[in-house]
Amino acid sequence: MSEEVVVAKKGPFGVVVEKGKTYWWCACGRSQSQPFCDGSHKGTDIEPVKYVADDDVMVAFCGCKHTCHQPYCDDSHASLEDEELQDPSEGPRIIG
Ligand code: FES
Repeated sequence: MSEEVVVAKKGPFGVVVEKGKTYWWCACGRSQSQPFCDGSHKGTDIEPVKYVADDDVMVAFCGCKHTCHQPYCDDSHASLEDEELQDPSEGPRIIG
């Protein structure tokens, strides 16, 4: 079992959510449907985080997966070292 988090993006994913709708934020970084879970966390100990929209509003979902306030971006990406990041064209890089 792997507990390693993948940096999906060094920054937030801005998504307009719909009031009353349930979303599952990807906490592992492996989803191909960022920022939401597509089941790719299977085989890890990481689970998606449930989010229920209480309004029709733009939400900044964490893309680096290092936030301390899941599922929201808290600017944790700003403190990530460059070597923990990657060129997106190279595919996901596992860190942790
Ligand atoms: S794919 Fe990342 S938590 Fe499900």
